[in-house]
Amino acid sequence: MVLLAAGLVLATLVKLAAATPTRRDAMVIHERRAQPAKGFVNAGPADSSTQLQFRVALVPNNIAGLESELYAVSDPSSSRYGQHLTPDQVAEYVKPDAASLAAVTSWLQANNIASKSISAAGDVLQIQIPVSQANTLFDTQFSTYTHSAINGTSIRTLQYSLPSDVAPHVAYVHPTTSFVTHWPSPEVKPMPTQNGKRYIDPSCADISVPTCAIAEYGIPTTPATQANNVLAVSGFGNEFVNDQDIKTFLTQYRPQQANQTFGTLFFDGGSNTQLSNEGAIETTLEIEYTLGVVTGAPVTYISVGFLQNDGIGGYLDEINGLIAADSRPTVMTTSDGWDEDQLSLAVSQGLCNAYMQLGAMGVSILWESGNGGVGAGEGEFCTEFVPASPSTCPWVTSVGGSQQILENFTPDTFSEIAADFSTGGFSNYFPVPAYQQEVVSKYIASLNGTYAGLYNTTGRGFPDVAAESVNYIYYVDDGDTGLVSGTDFATPVFASVIAMLNDELLTAGKSPMGFLNPWLYSPAGSAALNDITVGSNPGCNTNGFSAGVSWDPVTGLGSPNYAAMKAALGL
Ligand SMILES: *[C@@H]1O[C@H](CO)[C@@H](O)[C@H](O)[C@H]1NC(C)=O
Ligand SMILES: *[C@@H]1O[C@H](CO)[C@@H](O)[C@H](O)[C@H]1NC(C)=O
Ligand SMILES: *[C@@H]1O[C@H](CO)[C@@H](O)[C@H](O)[C@H]1NC(C)=O
Ligand SMILES: *[C@@H]1O[C@H](CO)[C@@H](O)[C@H](O)[C@H]1NC(C)=O
Repeated sequence: MVLLAAGLVLATLVKLAAATPTRRDAMVIHERRAQPAKGFVNAGPADSSTQLQFRVALVPNNIAGLESELYAVSDPSSSRYGQHLTPDQVAEYVKPDAASLAAVTSWLQANNIASKSISAAGDVLQIQIPVSQANTLFDTQFSTYTHSAINGTSIRTLQYSLPSDVAPHVAYVHPTTSFVTHWPSPEVKPMPTQNGKRYIDPSCADISVPTCAIAEYGIPTTPATQANNVLAVSGFGNEFVNDQDIKTFLTQYRPQQANQTFGTLFFDGGSNTQLSNEGAIETTLEIEYTLGVVTGAPVTYISVGFLQNDGIGGYLDEINGLIAADSRPTVMTTSDGWDEDQLSLAVSQGLCNAYMQLGAMGVSILWESGNGGVGAGEGEFCTEFVPASPSTCPWVTSVGGSQQILENFTPDTFSEIAADFSTGGFSNYFPVPAYQQEVVSKYIASLNGTYAGLYNTTGRGFPDVAAESVNYIYYVDDGDTGLVSGTDFATPVFASVIAMLNDELLTAGKSPMGFLNPWLYSPAGSAALNDITVGSNPGCNTNGFSAGVSWDPVTGLGSPNYAAMKAALGL
């Protein structure tokens, strides 16, 4: 009798399902957040006819396998160190199972939705549907959100659902529950004047020009020789870098590089229009402090435009574009970020997995840690420390800020201390990775419980390293010049160090460094950095973390020492 009843129920369900293509009876919540990210205001239901573009990311078939491979080729103690994977080898781990692809595509087809694959491994599909259909398909209600720092609106929801037989195959649907603002560009200050004239302090104690970074870290000025060792600078929002501005800057501050030009690569309709007076200060400065700090190594500006619809300003599009490209840079530096909880956990993991793919292919990926101390984008206005993304992704190298100062009573001695704005802390999304477990535990133990409850004791710690970040001279728009500070400029300098080391590695017939962290945290790697032990990163109305011996969440393991790093690499 029990069996009979069950059979009847099943028959009824099958009939219902056939009559109800959206299968609302079998929907399960896939992602949910209690409230929008800080500062976003719900301005009411989204207009039902507005077209939305979504990324439907399928679960990769073996991401744990790719993680093992990444360590195998990036850990200097591994026999396969430096044997980076080909794009095809990476795609084998990332592509979805046939069953996942079938489940998702048949669900979309049943709803008359066309999809196209937009990633090399076929793990990300793009669909476009109106708000009305999205509300039904995902059993939700999309709303329009505004934010004082964003021009325009974001259409988002606080939760969405998927049919229970589709959900296990989907990593995330985006943009849905992620709300992103980007950090503001650092403030610019006028050039200091003496006797009414602009002056440059040649000591490098007050002002940074490329030759200061070269001297501070011992970066060689013998020209690099490897044409395929590209150092890429990413810029977003279709920012322009003017060739003549760069030439003028280099002629004045790094004459040896005066004839060097940068290449360009465009995604999402990006461009690099050479109109005068339209150069972007921040991106221009990042080219000035890569092309001006390396000697002879190729630098490429990756400009990402506004045609992105990935809900994160083009970051997902850029990374998937590079994974699918014919060739890739060996180092990439990006100066931007967001507070970790703005992106959902699943989207953060998806973006981080994409960085893992590039790392496995031998690309070093560097991101600034941010300029808000332990408060990241919230500075003082926070009650808990704010982790910064994508620095908390274990597969990127996060660069914090330091500052060179003259020792008080010995005018000829410089020392390097933490910059007080250098963001650092611990992830709420990513657990501490193996390569830093020991030093992070040691640091947390040294706190004796200070700040308990304000940060996550099991999360990935960041930044990994640091570099000079105070009072960089910029030159833009045919004569606009001034000073600016930020980890934004530490990151290109650190990337330039890696580019010059890669040139020497390639010349010696070795592989480029690739994913840096297992090497940086190895005994040889960490001993080759200048440990920074003075300073702290105040924020959230606290004094922040203190720099100390070995790793700390202000300056990481420390700043580069080129000669020591070169020796540690066996060069
Ligand atoms: C916002 O958009 C308006 C109109 O498109 C434009 O004039 C303004 O410069 C934009 N502001 C920012 C900060 O992008
Ligand atoms: C740059 O090019 C000009 C013109 O060809 C030349 O006079 C100058 O020596 C070059 N500078 C360097 C550093 O190579
Ligand atoms: C702390 O981090 C871990 C990951 O290491 C995470 O699982 C946990 O949810 C985090 N705790 C909070 C309160 O966010
Ligand atoms: C933690 O305790 C040790 C030993 O008493 C002390 O040396 C250290 O300064 C303390 N650290 C903090 C952050 O209070």
